[in-house]
Amino acid sequence: MNRLGNTEPALSQAPTILAIESSCDDTSASIVQNGRVLSNVTAGQKVHAEYGGVVPEHASRAHQRNIVPTVAVALKRAEITAEEIDAVAFTRGPGLIGSLMVGVSFAKAFALARDLPLIEVDHMQAHVLAHFAEDPKPVFPFLCLVVSGGHTQLVVVKSALEHEIIGKTIDDAAGEAFDKTGKMLGLEYPAGPRIDRLAKEGKPELRFARPKMDGLDFSFSGLKTSVLYTLRKEIAREENYLQENLADICASVQTAIVDTLVHKVKLAVAQTGIKQIAVAGGVAANSGLRAALNREAGKNDWTVYVPRIEYCTDNAAMIGVTATFKYREGLFVGQEVAPAARF
Ligand code: KG4
Ligand code: ZN
Repeated sequence: MNRLGNTEPALSQAPTILAIESSCDDTSASIVQNGRVLSNVTAGQKVHAEYGGVVPEHASRAHQRNIVPTVAVALKRAEITAEEIDAVAFTRGPGLIGSLMVGVSFAKAFALARDLPLIEVDHMQAHVLAHFAEDPKPVFPFLCLVVSGGHTQLVVVKSALEHEIIGKTIDDAAGEAFDKTGKMLGLEYPAGPRIDRLAKEGKPELRFARPKMDGLDFSFSGLKTSVLYTLRKEIAREENYLQENLADICASVQTAIVDTLVHKVKLAVAQTGIKQIAVAGGVAANSGLRAALNREAGKNDWTVYVPRIEYCTDNAAMIGVTATFKYREGLFVGQEVAPAARF
């Protein structure tokens, strides 16, 4: 449907798509031409670091400031003009409502001004399809472990747009487990990359609780409690315990989270028989997780796909790549579209 909702858009064989991502605290714009990423520009938000987590109010305001310059840079880097865009894609959800609203409204305005078709994208589906932003691309069906600050899912990816969630977290996401335990250790938000760095200098000698979840679902809240109790006990005994053992604590936290993730992937492989494993989301940047999966790949004859870090964390290239699959299927939405958690 075009903006008047009554005629079909003339479809391009090699669509040039402007994609927008604004679900959390990164404002990102990308130009994707016939499935190939020409540019991917992301403006982060430093404002949240001092609060120990994303402050939604600050996030929406920063998106509002960043969106126009971010899109301008994405067009410039791709050497594409606004007139050459065939469709506009945006993250519809899940995410923070005020943050999503900025990206959705920008996409609608751009599409309305140029009478372009609009494509809504599910943020989680896009994390999975980020693997198609570069080579080698996984072959269907594959298993995808999506681990970010907001979500932890195991997905059977049957085709580009047919995804079945076979496991998910019942409490904290894997990224949250890194960020919340990091906060207890006095590390700035987001603590994941900081724990990763410190873990390299430490030994995983502390045994934190592993969740006792049956099946393919995840739980990380027990780990937080386990770290908290250990810290309390040790600090009561030795005041400088945290400062003197920070690297070992980080290595132990990381090992507990990575062990849990890898254990569930092994279960999923046993259950589905699929040995093509893809990892997506911000936590896929974790060096311990990458190393553990590669070790398992060697032992079990798996093929493991991890996108480059720029495509693991929130980015608009994954939105553009997903939108290209939807464009080819003619899956457009009208101007009445609004952000939604599920659609
Ligand atoms: O996918 P993402 O950028 O945003 C969400 O959709 O949530 O993921 C952000 C999460 C944060 O929790 C951050 O701490 C975590 O990914 N993260 C990491 C690493 N890099 C980012 N966690 C562990 N190790 C890393 N190297
Ligand atoms: Zn994400």
